[in-house]
Amino acid sequence: MKNIRFKNLDSSLVNSLVLYQKKFLNELNGNIFFEKEIIRNMKNKSFHTDLCLENNSIKGFLLAQKKTDFFEVYSLFVSPDLRRVGIAMTLLSNLIDRCKKEKIGKIFLEVMEFNKAAKNLYLKNNFKTYGRRDDYYKSQNKVFAAMLMKLELK
Ligand SMILES: CC(C)(COP(=O)(O)OP(=O)(O)OC[C@H]1O[C@@H](n2cnc3c(N)ncnc32)[C@H](O)[C@@H]1OP(=O)(O)O)[C@@H](O)C(=O)NCCC(=O)NCCS
Repeated sequence: MKNIRFKNLDSSLVNSLVLYQKKFLNELNGNIFFEKEIIRNMKNKSFHTDLCLENNSIKGFLLAQKKTDFFEVYSLFVSPDLRRVGIAMTLLSNLIDRCKKEKIGKIFLEVMEFNKAAKNLYLKNNFKTYGRRDDYYKSQNKVFAAMLMKLELK
């Protein structure tokens, strides 16, 4: 992948991250992080904000947080024009590498039950489904269950 790099969020990119999320508001189900929240979280070392940049434009991100002995993934997104080239795999493997470095043994996340792309991605990374929350997501006046998934690292 030409001109693609991954880096932690810094203050120069906060505004771009907010605009990027707003651009894809529907696909993110309205679940976006705003400037104040991002800046507050950036001060907290437990927050994990990994960006994929093409030249200097954001093309994907993964936001997660360390909570006691696990990480929780809050949001993961890749631009439609750059999907299926392994960007989400790299974002997840960067988080897994951080877990290993910090001796964190588990990652938890929630995924909409019919989100085949995301579910396949997590299964490919050895996440297992351990539960389900009915009527958890709302999209276009319909409700969908969330599948609860976790990865246990050895
Ligand atoms: C889910 C998402 C993050 C995947 O990003 P991506 O960079 O395209 O994923 P990758 O290229 O790293 O794909 C890795 C694996 O995921 C699975 N996958 C990805 N897209 C898929 C699709 N459209 N259909 C089926 N499986 C898919 C495959 O197993 C793929 O491996 P393969 O290409 O060897 O078959 C991306 O589609 C996206 O941003 N979707 C909208 C937001 C979203 O759903 N986020 C997750 C919320 S829990």
